[in-house]
Amino acid sequence: MSSTTNEAPTAPIQLSRKPPGGPSVGPYPKPAESGGQGAPGAGKTACIRTFGCQMNVHDSDRMRRMIQDAGYAEVQRYEEADLVILNTCYVRENAVDRVRGHLGELSRLRREGRVKKVALTGCIGAAEEAQSLQKTFDIDLVLGTHNTYELAEFVGLPTMRETYTPELPGTEGEHSAFVTIMTGCNYQCSYCIVPTVRGRMICRPLESVVGEIEDLVAGGTGYVTLLGQTVDAWRYEGRRFCDLLEAVSEVAPRVWFTTSHPSNMEDRTLRAIGERDTIVKRLHLPVQSGSDRMLKLMHRGYKADRYRRKISVFRDAAPEGTLSTDIIVGHPGETEDDHEQTLRLVEDCEFDSAYIFKFSPRRGTEAAALPGIVPDAIVQRRFLEVLRAVEQNAFRRNQRKVGGVEDIFVRHGATEDGKAIGETWSGHAVHVATEAAPGTYVRATIQSAGPHVLYAQTTN
Ligand code: 5AD
Ligand code: SF4
Repeated sequence: MSSTTNEAPTAPIQLSRKPPGGPSVGPYPKPAESGGQGAPGAGKTACIRTFGCQMNVHDSDRMRRMIQDAGYAEVQRYEEADLVILNTCYVRENAVDRVRGHLGELSRLRREGRVKKVALTGCIGAAEEAQSLQKTFDIDLVLGTHNTYELAEFVGLPTMRETYTPELPGTEGEHSAFVTIMTGCNYQCSYCIVPTVRGRMICRPLESVVGEIEDLVAGGTGYVTLLGQTVDAWRYEGRRFCDLLEAVSEVAPRVWFTTSHPSNMEDRTLRAIGERDTIVKRLHLPVQSGSDRMLKLMHRGYKADRYRRKISVFRDAAPEGTLSTDIIVGHPGETEDDHEQTLRLVEDCEFDSAYIFKFSPRRGTEAAALPGIVPDAIVQRRFLEVLRAVEQNAFRRNQRKVGGVEDIFVRHGATEDGKAIGETWSGHAVHVATEAAPGTYVRATIQSAGPHVLYAQTTN
């Protein structure tokens, strides 16, 4: 993977208005004849729109299963939907602005009688702001991520009890699947709304994770991504993330995980990435800043040099691997010198890609009340400088791949231009001309490279 963007790929946010509680209960009770003629939603249509990170994509998959079980047909356009579900992100203000725009459009469509019901789910659904949005836009159902299961009842399925561990139905029988291994976060980063609204970390038992993956693989899944806010903080009955990763790498043909925290990332895990054939050699390790002063202000719990050391372990373990990160520019108090240090770290770590964010004040976080607001024009300049540095590095590194032959996992089949999108074992995104179906592998030679993607031609 090699994309540099202002949108989070991996902000695995799941929030809840109330902290999760109560003992774990069984999985979603599947109706005997799901989605059949007599199903409560038979003849109705639903449209799910997902904003934000992969955790949200995964939650949307769960909700998709519920509406399908209820007999709804999924449609892609609001105008064709009886029920519209907006599964949302709250991590930065621009994400909320986008959702407001969609809610405005949905209000209009409802007045015209084209959309009947609107549900707001996910991270905004868990925030206080959801109440005012519900009033303003007359939303029918608001759910946070810990009570997503209530959607089942809303669409006419048997009532589910709250699940403690994330054992709601996930993606099944697909060539790629997300598997949640933990929810919540025990950190308190200055800028971040997640711990406030989402609660503390809850880890899912190892056997439960491995069991789900065995079922997925038996159903045809060839690629499993372990998900969580800080997956490397996973602990259960004395076992640590690396134990879980190793166990999963034994049963899944291809594994990746996201997202990680530098303070939890063990050398053993980094070495396992290099050693285990089934683990994709791709690490996403958010650094946020290259300045020790800023890292302290952000409560990140590590210094820049410790981060550099982790990266050198990763590069030794997987020299061909890809490294991505998250960087925030313009956090309150960030000086020119702090920014210079971030640029230096970017040079040193030679990221293959980075998700660069302009600081966005979130009400209720420590940083929102800090002095030293950085003017917009300066934030913009710093943003571009970091972006340029990352892209130059990424381009240089990608150029080294040209001429090599790679086994590429096809993620998305060919579009009209005949190009499929795949991933190498080193975690590079590749455009390749092939008819091969998603979930299969093709062997291809890398012909050229840009800063974000490689271009390949099949050799067989
Ligand atoms: N402003 C800007 N970026 C943020 N992130 C989290 N909170 C904020 C905020 N308030 C970024 C961090 C995190 C990623 C998912 O989103 O870089 O790693
Ligand atoms: Fe937010 Fe920090 Fe937790 Fe990541 S580790 S979710 S940035 S509080």
